[in-house]
Amino acid sequence: MCPRQPSGTGSMGPPGALAGWGLLDYKTEKWALLAKKGYQERDLDPQISVITKLKGVSVTQIKELGNRLWDVADFVKPAQGENVFFLVTNFHVTPKQVQGRCPEHPSIPLANCWAHEDCPEGETGTHSHGIKTGQCVVFNGTHRTCEIWGWCPVESSTAPVKPLLVQAENFTLFIKNTVTFSKFNFSKSNALETWDNTYFKHCRYDPFSSPFCPVFRIGDLVAAAGGAFEDLALLGGAVGVRVLWDCNLDAGSSDCRPHYSFQLQEWSYNFRTATHWWETSGVEARSLFKLYGIRFDILVTGQAGKFGLIPTTITLGTGAAWLGMITFFCDLLLLYVDGEAHFYWKTKYEEAKAPKVPAKPEQTEPASMPLPPGYPGALEEAQHLPP
Ligand SMILES: *[C@@H]1O[C@H](CO)[C@@H](O)[C@H](O)[C@H]1NC(C)=O
Repeated sequence: MCPRQPSGTGSMGPPGALAGWGLLDYKTEKWALLAKKGYQERDLDPQISVITKLKGVSVTQIKELGNRLWDVADFVKPAQGENVFFLVTNFHVTPKQVQGRCPEHPSIPLANCWAHEDCPEGETGTHSHGIKTGQCVVFNGTHRTCEIWGWCPVESSTAPVKPLLVQAENFTLFIKNTVTFSKFNFSKSNALETWDNTYFKHCRYDPFSSPFCPVFRIGDLVAAAGGAFEDLALLGGAVGVRVLWDCNLDAGSSDCRPHYSFQLQEWSYNFRTATHWWETSGVEARSLFKLYGIRFDILVTGQAGKFGLIPTTITLGTGAAWLGMITFFCDLLLLYVDGEAHFYWKTKYEEAKAPKVPAKPEQTEPASMPLPPGYPGALEEAQHLPP
């Protein structure tokens, strides 16, 4: 890697070798300067704001709830329009629970019993729905289970077979996103700058025909993440939406635009929630919902660069420093490590060894490295000196 000096050519290498090195150093600097935008000051930590809005209406027929209409207030949780939210696509409802005594579900560990002794009073478990009363009671025609005190009747654990809110595939998600690069006092939104006021109301994101439209059809978004909407709608899942701003502010504000990418992160996702009310009898009741749905995580990252005199100087300076470092390391290698080190010592420091002969005028490199006393060549060379 060092410029080799062929034997017998003196202390200077052939002009071609040196020219090659100069060219390579120049190329390294040019690469750092242009490809890595070494002439730009950079802001890698923008301030980010994300607001989301889902639109769509779904009508679902379930025997417990009748013909029920679902709108955003029902199927988006939380409803504030945050950067992480949950879109309900399926649910399992246990309507009209009240607190009381009832048989535990047979699928719960230690719930099945033959006699009262199998049900220690006060016992409870991680998966149980309540506290055991000490009684063993009939659950149905085939199962006897421990009686519990809790919200009754208990939820039946049946796996969903078809999603209830299939229309969610056609819902739209609007992601409003603003980035601020405070270093350059520059701010930009993904949804403001347009010649047509109605564009963002009607457009749909498409990676090819409208890559800057921030309105996404849920079905398209899930497909772009590599998932099938029907599968995700049934058991839930999580989808990541990445918004990347890579802005070259030298090229003007219109060049600073977001790029969207999508990833499927989870293949099942659910949680439970309940709605409570007071019965006319004064008893508190609730409907328990096990909600399946798609969780959306919107992650915005960005960086911006703008021409700056200081980074340019540093990049050029680093390049210049590299030139000096390479010379230094090559000297080290040639003088200490190389098999022909003796030859290089002689050519580089020849004159310092001869006490009576004045320094040759053509020596160009200063003898920056003093000869260490332990160097084996020193003694050998001293023996060959003229008397
Ligand atoms: C979504 O919309 C398209 C076109 O409007 C319609 O043909 C399709 O049936 C809808 N899909 C669902 C699941 O409602």
